[in-house]
Amino acid sequence: MPSIKNPIPKGVEKENLASMIHEYRGFHNEAESGTIVSRTKNYKTMINHYYDLVTDFYEYGWGQSFHFAPRKRDESFKDSLIRHEHYLAEQLELDPGSEVLDLGCGVGGPLRELARYSGARITGVNNNAYQIAKCGKYIEEEGLTNQCSTLKADFMHLPLDDGSFDAAYTIEASCHAPDRLALFKEVYRILRPGGQFSGYEWCLTDLYDDKNPDHRQIKKGIEEGDALPDILHTSEIVRVLKEAGFTVCDSEDRALTSDPRKPWYLPIEGKELSSLHGLLCTRPGRMITHFLLTIFEKMGIAPKGSIALSALLIKTADYLVEAGKKGIFTPMFYFRAKKL
Ligand SMILES: C[S@@+](CC[C@H](N)C(=O)[O-])C[C@H]1O[C@@H](n2cnc3c(N)ncnc32)[C@H](O)[C@@H]1O
Repeated sequence: MPSIKNPIPKGVEKENLASMIHEYRGFHNEAESGTIVSRTKNYKTMINHYYDLVTDFYEYGWGQSFHFAPRKRDESFKDSLIRHEHYLAEQLELDPGSEVLDLGCGVGGPLRELARYSGARITGVNNNAYQIAKCGKYIEEEGLTNQCSTLKADFMHLPLDDGSFDAAYTIEASCHAPDRLALFKEVYRILRPGGQFSGYEWCLTDLYDDKNPDHRQIKKGIEEGDALPDILHTSEIVRVLKEAGFTVCDSEDRALTSDPRKPWYLPIEGKELSSLHGLLCTRPGRMITHFLLTIFEKMGIAPKGSIALSALLIKTADYLVEAGKKGIFTPMFYFRAKKL
């Protein structure tokens, strides 16, 4: 974990931090060579740089499930994450006989939770070496090796046989795909007939107006801050699932199921100060960390690049809150689709 004393993410060599951030930011700098085309072409480098940089920060500030969740009025943040995960297991009707794929599994928080909850056998796919190693270690530590396994692979090209899984799900990961149609076709291929695919997608909503410069800037800010080639509209996801061959059974923006006083972006908005964890996730908490990092980088204690990384994370959180407040974006467009 990064800490104030040791702020270097462990996924990154100390001397590489500044150059990695510089290269990462270049993918999004349209004054230079950063375009959707370059981000799409170089998606593996862009996304792996991003997750090498942020994984420890995510675990430190958020936990081992790297996603948002809708929340009930009296529900804790942690309980809302778990309920959001269980929802997928229930919709997919996972049980001890199910052979399941988790596409873009992070360090495996949802994977382990769903394995315990449903009894299913789950394989986590992730193309990031640092995260997948952590995921394997946590599976072992929690005694789940009989049910869970890891596969280091690009989900655009799965080294798996046709029709070998009963179900697949993806939580806030398919938004990283350079080509949604190609990804959904790949998922279709590995599912058996009757198999189901479900997930939560990062999407633009009907309130997004591409002619509005504010909206466009927010979209770009989220893409830059979260290593996304291009965010699609909810209707595009449904259209592309169908084009890949799926029958779309359900789709819904789960953000709209949140208590209005507990929107999905509340944990990063800076209004929940009831715990140290809450404080660290808020804007003031991030500003304090950023202030200390600035001093440490200037003193040569923290490596060059620490300030830029911290600034990127703060800016991204601000864009996400702004997008959530305007209702132009959702990180939880739910879908369930079937291979007939
Ligand atoms: C926001 S994280 C979500 C992780 C996990 N689903 C969770 O909710 O905790 C997105 C994940 O997708 C993975 N990912 C992105 N592109 C990928 C690709 N082409 N192949 C495999 N995994 C990918 C990232 O490495 C990261 O683990």
